[in-house]
Amino acid sequence: MEMHIALLPGDGIGPEVIAQAVKVVNAVGQKFGHTITFKEGLVGACAIDATGDPYPDATHEICAGSDAVLFGAIGDPKYDNDPKAKVRPEQGLLRMRQKLGLFANVRPTFTFPSLVHKSPLKLDRVDGVDLVFFRELTGGVYFGEPRGRNEQGTKAFDTNVYSKEEIVRLARMGFEAAQKRRKLLTCVDKANVMATSRLWRETVQELAPEYPDVKVEYEFVDAVAMRLIQWPKAYDVLITENLFGDILTDEASVISGSMGLMPSASLGSKVKLFEPIHGSYPQAAGKDIANPLGTVLSASMMFDYAFGLSEEAKLISDVVNLSLAEGVVTEDIAEGGKAYKTSEVGDWLAAKILS
Ligand code: IPM
Ligand code: MG
Repeated sequence: MEMHIALLPGDGIGPEVIAQAVKVVNAVGQKFGHTITFKEGLVGACAIDATGDPYPDATHEICAGSDAVLFGAIGDPKYDNDPKAKVRPEQGLLRMRQKLGLFANVRPTFTFPSLVHKSPLKLDRVDGVDLVFFRELTGGVYFGEPRGRNEQGTKAFDTNVYSKEEIVRLARMGFEAAQKRRKLLTCVDKANVMATSRLWRETVQELAPEYPDVKVEYEFVDAVAMRLIQWPKAYDVLITENLFGDILTDEASVISGSMGLMPSASLGSKVKLFEPIHGSYPQAAGKDIANPLGTVLSASMMFDYAFGLSEEAKLISDVVNLSLAEGVVTEDIAEGGKAYKTSEVGDWLAAKILS
């Protein structure tokens, strides 16, 4: 197969972890006979520094002309503590999601047997957790208008808006995913307080009869925040709006003890985007110590979701599991054993794929 992949390494450790994913993707291409081409673009703080724009048109053209985007991370401390900064790296991310039509963010949480003891939760609660969030990504309070301040600057407001159509397309993805998994769908909302949430609940209730094999549960977001740490095994597929999804997926990403390893996919149009859940970890940038496995597993999701190549995807997750089992890992999970460099882990994975 011919594959055109856009690479957006971004800031901090982004370039280092993306470099390892490229080694792995190339190894898979060589093994299975795929022709893979990469085009690189700027995004985030490095794009602001170079062009003044966190998501330059040139980058958008590269992404829009590709089959898939592999994204590293964005963010730089010099913007975090300046609420008055006019341009921010995060604006680039939001604009990219909107312009590429990436309305669904798929964030799984699963466990690795060799890492489960690192979970902040008790072992019996977390062992075997396997859930996935479908977070709406291009609507809600992130994009709603009006937003801003009154004339005196003493009042601020944001608007949460959802159309039925936006809810339907996200919910259908959730139903379809549930059909392929354990057939349980949880609609997360705040329907006891918010009008948007009542539209979510009503819309999901209308769709449910089309998916008779899927059991649907409706749960308030505060209760989900609680049950996610009490008994995460209660969940299979969860669907929710943009802001609730932002918050809950951070919570979910740490319960397995493997936040540095969790991948994600953003879907919705022809071009699909894949990125690790972790951030740009500026303290580690350039040191060759960052854990590349979240990005490598995002590349695995890419083979599956963007190209329908599940054998290739599985080979990548298998070699990642092997690296964990054999202790070929970076310092964050080495635990007194040898700590491998970011680049060494990438080399090892690529070599295993070709062996
Ligand atoms: C995420 C991030 C972004 C979001 C930020 C960086 C704008 O937290 O991808 O979850 O809030 O969507
Ligand atoms: Mg977030």
